[in-house]
Amino acid sequence: MKFVSILVVFMAGAVLGLSVSAHFKQYFNSQADLFFPKTMYTANCDKDCLSIKSFVKPTHLMHSMTDDELFWRASMVPKVEDYPFERVPKVAFMFMTRGPLPFVPLWDKFFKGHEGLYSVYVHALPDYKLNVSEDSAFYGRQIPSEEVSWGSVTLVDAEKRLLANALLDFSNERFVLLSESCIPVYNFPTVYEYLINSEHSFVESYDEDSPQGRGRYNRYMAPHIKLYQWRKGSEWFELNRELAVTMVADYKYYALFRKYCKPSCYPDEHYIPTYLNMFHGSLNANRSLTWVDWSRGGPHPATYGAPSITADFIQAIRNNGTFCMYNSRPTSICFLFARKFAPNALESLLNLTSTVMDF
Ligand SMILES: *[C@@H]1O[C@H](CO)[C@@H](O)[C@H](O)[C@H]1NC(C)=O
Ligand SMILES: *[C@@H]1O[C@H](CO)[C@@H](O)[C@H](O)[C@H]1NC(C)=O
Ligand SMILES: *[C@@H]1O[C@H](CO)[C@@H](O)[C@H](O)[C@H]1NC(C)=O
Ligand SMILES: *[C@@H]1O[C@H](CO)[C@@H](O)[C@H](O)[C@H]1NC(C)=O
Repeated sequence: MKFVSILVVFMAGAVLGLSVSAHFKQYFNSQADLFFPKTMYTANCDKDCLSIKSFVKPTHLMHSMTDDELFWRASMVPKVEDYPFERVPKVAFMFMTRGPLPFVPLWDKFFKGHEGLYSVYVHALPDYKLNVSEDSAFYGRQIPSEEVSWGSVTLVDAEKRLLANALLDFSNERFVLLSESCIPVYNFPTVYEYLINSEHSFVESYDEDSPQGRGRYNRYMAPHIKLYQWRKGSEWFELNRELAVTMVADYKYYALFRKYCKPSCYPDEHYIPTYLNMFHGSLNANRSLTWVDWSRGGPHPATYGAPSITADFIQAIRNNGTFCMYNSRPTSICFLFARKFAPNALESLLNLTSTVMDF
């Protein structure tokens, strides 16, 4: 009985073995093919295979990653110090808008001739399609976007989404957040040198003992965030790569803002300034590079239309006689960008590029 059952098992094994080997023979003509199948090693690697080129600079901005997947991937930092390719540091210009970008012609003039030193990213409403010509720096630069509502945490979600998408390009070194109403007030070489050579990032950060400052702190944020660590500042930041990764990678403190910073607390004015103050204060210049006019009061700053645009006005934004600190030395260049400008200001601004802004 034992013998019969052993025989049956043996026969079954032999049959199985023969059939498998016959099966394999159909596909693999030699031993070499078995270990190095032709189909896997001679495939066309232009598109589908791993390459350093597509890893360090994705060719398409569109992807199917969720925010969590995207933030995880964007938070990766190489451990090897030297890059295995020639890395020319770039500035990522990240535009947050609901729809049209009226100053595309001005920005295109600003970017012209400096290809390879910048990348553009646009976060718009999910179904908005930016209509620009193929030779524009904005062509094909929309990232997968979500709905954003003013003053809510979704605004910071969008900022993080812009940062994370821009981080996927390993050559991006500085990250500037801009809006549809922002304009450049210096030429590209000046902006590039200023940012690339800066020892600090530019995030406005101050402690204000008022209902609009400390008054927005929620004591449930303690003990993780304490009142004395609370900061306020303009949403329009500039971060270096290291800090951009840090912001994308933070879930712990962001969760507290999501939960406890709701109107009249505005996460876009407190989250990044507070976080940097707590952990990376020494890397921050604590001032914004984007000029804005709050002198009229109210919840929104002044908007400048065509009649306000004169050479003297733009010149005063570039240099009004005050000095700022840059790499621990005084400089007359305090602002590289300005807001807010109405769409009808475009023609007058284009008129001033060569005489005032120098591009
Ligand atoms: C895009 O812009 C071009 C040129 O301004 C215009 O002719 C075209 O109709 C626009 N397309 C859409 C879909 O708005
Ligand atoms: C910015 O503020 C931080 C405190 O958060 C301070 O440590 C740092 O020195 C300031 N930066 C500059 C450039 O003064
Ligand atoms: C220059 O601009 C700064 C920042 O906007 C402002 O604080 C300062 O009062 C201005 N100075 C003059 C002389 O207008
Ligand atoms: C632009 O400059 C030209 C020539 O100086 C002038 O005729 C025109 O009125 C200007 N346009 C605007 C909108 O300022």
